Amino acid sequence: MPGEGRADATVVIVGEAPGDKEDRTGRPFQGDAGSNLNGLLERAAINREEAFVTNVVKCRPVDNNRNRKPTSEEINACLPYIKRQLQLIKPNIVVLLGASALNAFFPDKKIREAHGKVLALEGQQFFITYHPAAKIYDKALGPIMDTDFDALGKRYTV
Ligand code: URA
Repeated sequence: MPGEGRADATVVIVGEAPGDKEDRTGRPFQGDAGSNLNGLLERAAINREEAFVTNVVKCRPVDNNRNRKPTSEEINACLPYIKRQLQLIKPNIVVLLGASALNAFFPDKKIREAHGKVLALEGQQFFITYHPAAKIYDKALGPIMDTDFDALGKRYTV
């Protein structure tokens, strides 16, 4: 699943990997994590249709019919693909959602310390925040993510 959106997007949103529905439809963030993401983007006044939305890992990592975290081997296999996507799109900001996306680009950073911040790598700026599914499991992350997306919205709008 390569992702969807504008080839000239100024904002690129990067999740972990497609789930079942995303894999079947070829469209990222369709389920509950997707509705959470839509709400957060709205908060930041980022129009999802104007952005490019994708994942680090391009195929669904599956175990006994259930989603699982991608392995570092799978992440490294897909890394050249997302890096090339970013070279072609050249966005102003890449939003990394969650630890898998963060650590694909910044292996030594911790999500708890890096969230809400902008990091730079090879001339590209990255905004770090939690994965939109995280607040389903940890309610305390809801207001923290709201604050992150408020900060994002102040810096970049589409
Ligand atoms: N979670 C992700 O990280 N990406 C999707 O596309 C859907 C759920």
